[in-house]
Amino acid sequence: MHILVLNGPNLNLLGKREPDVYGDVSLKGLTAELLLAAPEDVQLTFVQSNHEGELIDALHEAYDYAGVIFNAGAYTHTSIALRDAIAAIKAPVVEVHISNVHARESFRHESKLAAVCLGVISGFGLTSYTLALQALLVHWRNRHD
Ligand code: DQA
Repeated sequence: MHILVLNGPNLNLLGKREPDVYGDVSLKGLTAELLLAAPEDVQLTFVQSNHEGELIDALHEAYDYAGVIFNAGAYTHTSIALRDAIAAIKAPVVEVHISNVHARESFRHESKLAAVCLGVISGFGLTSYTLALQALLVHWRNRHD
């Protein structure tokens, strides 16, 4: 089973960026947590980019993966191109956010991506990613048992 963990703009600064909102664990720390949480038969690939086109390319690469865990950062609220890329691939995508976007500014309340995702997990800090991993595993098992 192959799962892509895809992080968008500014998430390379995790740990340093607005720690009151996003916590003090780095992207490297998040990667280590997810590797620990993943069962042995799950291969995780990690990609972070600040560029919309690179995020689209990464989604295309994951065309028939078992799933994608995707924090699109601010592109969540603006990008039709990312929405189209999610809709174009076979892999189920879980939209994740570290913060609870609905408890923040109103421009963060809308997601251009959510409607073409399997589901959305928002507000649980870095645990949002491990919850998304669990959701993808359950989804995969339900379809293959
Ligand atoms: C975020 C929420 C977005 O609104 C914001 O632009 C981010 C991070 C989150 O993980 O909480 O960059 O996706």
